[in-house]
Amino acid sequence: MSHCDCMELVCFTIGALVLLKWAWRGLVLIRNLFLGTKVTPQRYGENSWAVVTGSTDGIGKALALELAKRGFNIVLIARNSEKLAAVAKDIQNKYGRDTRMIVFDFSKETSFAAYEHIVRLLDDIDVSILINNVGMSNKPDDQENHQLKDVHAEVVVNCYPIVILTKLLVDRLKLRYKKTGKRSLILNVASQITFIPNPYLAGYCSSKNFDDKFTKSLYYEMKGTGVDVLGLLPGAVSTGLNGFSEVPFAVIGVQSCATGTLNNATSFVTFGGWVHEIHGFLVKNFMLDLVPQSILIKLTRGFAEGLKKSWKLKVK
Ligand SMILES: NC(=O)c1ccc[n+]([C@@H]2O[C@H](COP(=O)([O-])OP(=O)(O)OC[C@H]3O[C@@H](n4cnc5c(N)ncnc54)[C@H](OP(=O)(O)O)[C@@H]3O)[C@@H](O)[C@H]2O)c1
Repeated sequence: MSHCDCMELVCFTIGALVLLKWAWRGLVLIRNLFLGTKVTPQRYGENSWAVVTGSTDGIGKALALELAKRGFNIVLIARNSEKLAAVAKDIQNKYGRDTRMIVFDFSKETSFAAYEHIVRLLDDIDVSILINNVGMSNKPDDQENHQLKDVHAEVVVNCYPIVILTKLLVDRLKLRYKKTGKRSLILNVASQITFIPNPYLAGYCSSKNFDDKFTKSLYYEMKGTGVDVLGLLPGAVSTGLNGFSEVPFAVIGVQSCATGTLNNATSFVTFGGWVHEIHGFLVKNFMLDLVPQSILIKLTRGFAEGLKKSWKLKVK
């Protein structure tokens, strides 16, 4: 075989492998859009409970309401007791499901005793779903402008509850499957922001990366135990966290994110909602694979610089 033939064969093989990878991801996209496993009481247990952190606003509230609509009882966890009571009332009025409220500030309460107390409050109910949704983002800014307490809170809220609540509940979920054959679900909320390094959002971006890697590692560890593990990596969703308004095909609403997510229980990773599933596919295959990192960083830098200026427009 000549040198030219050899080169041709190598190029052809590489091209074929890349096409095969894209085709595989295309199939995953089709599954996530149309053929996902739905989160239902039939799969996880009739009259069982879902525990949702950060469930008084945004994505967490939408997930809690959607789960109640599908027939689950809900444990709501957040800081503000009035907002908790309002969501609980909404759930009872609209869907007739039971609720429990736990007032807890994840940025302040970090002792083992505080977390063990949460879990004790769940002792008498059949918990089948844990949604580690709570998260926060500081205003995008230069490192020297961040307050130390805010930097600390961002890491603590975004990384600590996901690990500790999982640790405290996972044995119980595994045992539930062994004893009753009922499956359970741990759903952790990371972000598409993990795809590319983000200047001025280093704390948020890296803490969400932590959530993503934790979830993916847990997914493989839990195979065969009856505990489904799902990572949610949304793109921009219109919530109080960012103050974005909905923009067609870009910034989606919380309902679309919640429904899309809860229709993909076993997909390993979901981007939550059809718009973001397509974004995720395009970003992973075309942007990340084909666009040089230096150009991507220019894009994320420009995005964060825009946010630096608009952050004062935040809803809360
Ligand atoms: N929005 C997006 O574009 C987007 C994109 C990708 C990923 N995410 C992720 O999605 C998750 C939810 O974000 P979101 O946009 O829905 O946020 P959000 O609208 O700001 O809602 C945050 C929820 O968490 C609660 N919360 C905040 N800090 C808390 C604390 N220290 N202790 C206890 N509860 C606390 C809030 O209730 P209280 O104020 O009553 O405590 C609220 O219920 C986060 O993990 C975020 O990183 C969001």
